[in-house]
Amino acid sequence: MTISCLGYIIFSSTNLDDWRQFGEQVVGAMNVAQDDNSVALKIDEQPFRILVEPGDADHVIALGWEMAGKEEFSALQETLKAQGFAIRNGSDSEAENRAVTAFFTTFDPAGNPLEFYHGRTLDQTAFLSPVGVKSFVTGDMGLGHVVVPGGEDMEGTHAFYTAILGLGDSDDLNMQLPGENSPKIRVRFLHAANARHHSLAIASLPSPSGVIHAMLEMEDVDDVGRCHDRVLAAERPLMASLGRHCNDNMLSFYVVGPGGIPFEIGCEGLQVDWTDFEPTKSSVPDHWGHAYQVPV
Ligand SMILES: [Fe+2]
Repeated sequence: MTISCLGYIIFSSTNLDDWRQFGEQVVGAMNVAQDDNSVALKIDEQPFRILVEPGDADHVIALGWEMAGKEEFSALQETLKAQGFAIRNGSDSEAENRAVTAFFTTFDPAGNPLEFYHGRTLDQTAFLSPVGVKSFVTGDMGLGHVVVPGGEDMEGTHAFYTAILGLGDSDDLNMQLPGENSPKIRVRFLHAANARHHSLAIASLPSPSGVIHAMLEMEDVDDVGRCHDRVLAAERPLMASLGRHCNDNMLSFYVVGPGGIPFEIGCEGLQVDWTDFEPTKSSVPDHWGHAYQVPV
């Protein structure tokens, strides 16, 4: 497996002020953008983990995947080209903007925009949360996880991530939402070459923003609880109440962020030694909680 982690996410936004407020005052990240034309949210030693650029829509622009090295980077590029995927090499200025040596872009079979990079420069500035978050759980496990639509052909999208990109299966969730005639939902959870239970999930759900949710992990339940307080104080809508997931044991809540993009804020996420791991199948998402507050 050659993909180390989910390194960053880039969004376009119709309201950068809302991202600044949400990023700094609710999540507790540092906005380290050079000017007012973007928002760059720093949560650890990396230059940023979330970059927001102005745009006509609130949408994901790129999920940035970190490759183990230059060789793996080049090998993946060749593999994708050979399989007929359209590749665009990032320009020098774009790479500089991301603090990476090089990157290229493509789309997965469901149309989700991807970037693959190597050689990210670490920031020498210490992370200091403007609202006192102790730390985010990142390091070689990357920024957290993201859940995206699997598209019409869930199997094909799943095969892309496993057979071509080399992500591993963590869990296969098949569930029915509460209520008669409610739809069945399938979510495939996938891990990269790090201990985080999943860095990506693909779901049989649409998403207007392209991201069903993104997850950021905090050090402990007190930081999560204080963030929950800030969500309520800022009168941000909750998407789901506090709860604990079965498959990754995450204790978390979901808040609707800028542009309607949901964020899961959690702690205590499972870390796995993949050596003898058998992928699981599940039918229940939660041990308790996570009651949906808004329609999904
Ligand atoms: Fe999640």
